[in-house]
Amino acid sequence: MRSHMKIVLAAVLLALIANLAMAAAPAKKHTTTTTHHKKATTTTKATKKATTTTKASAKATTTKATTTTKPTTKATTTTAKPTATPKMGQTAVILSATDYCIFLPPKYGGDIAANEDRAVAFCTKPNLPGAPNAQVLPAGFIKSSHYVVNNQKGYVQITGRIDRSKYGLSSKDGGGQYDLRAPVGSKMNGYNAFVQLTEPDAQIFCIRACMTKTDCPVNKSTYGCEKVLGGDYS
Ligand SMILES: *[C@@H]1O[C@H](CO)[C@@H](O)[C@H](O)[C@H]1NC(C)=O
Repeated sequence: MRSHMKIVLAAVLLALIANLAMAAAPAKKHTTTTTHHKKATTTTKATKKATTTTKASAKATTTKATTTTKPTTKATTTTAKPTATPKMGQTAVILSATDYCIFLPPKYGGDIAANEDRAVAFCTKPNLPGAPNAQVLPAGFIKSSHYVVNNQKGYVQITGRIDRSKYGLSSKDGGGQYDLRAPVGSKMNGYNAFVQLTEPDAQIFCIRACMTKTDCPVNKSTYGCEKVLGGDYS
């Protein structure tokens, strides 16, 4: 019996050990779960990284959006500029004895030669066809003008007298020449060349628009109107 009791005790002990083992097993399972959690944490980290990537994407999108906004701002600024200061036209036209344009410094009182790179078109009337954004000549600036048409050579010219005081030009200004190269960007609508000399000291001007460049000599800028283009200066 005693040995039987020992067997029973042993069985009980074994059962207890088995229980302990069972208790330990879930602990191991728990450890495994923890590992799974760790893996889960790693997954979370990956998610965080993914979130970072998303943030980066968001940043990239924001940067892209900002970049997109920048050209829009630039475009707006570019659009705003002409509105703020309208571009002064540099295209002249000679339509008749009364409807024509000449080039003058953009600002009142400007020196003729010093504004070779900046001269703009000034016309006898506003909105002359073919002279976009041209200015209008000050009243009384043109005192007399003589219109010549040479159909054979294909040129037209205007010569005459000016009242320099109407645009603040100086009596000490010996004048200068404007042509296709000075100012760069200037044009004579409907013609291939032009030459203009303005002499504030003598208060005369002359302009010729030519189909053939040789009829508009630009290599005699210091000779003055009467020698370069001839014509009537009364
Ligand atoms: C201007 O050019 C023309 C044609 O090339 C030439 O005959 C003339 O001698 C030149 N005049 C001056 C002052 O250089």
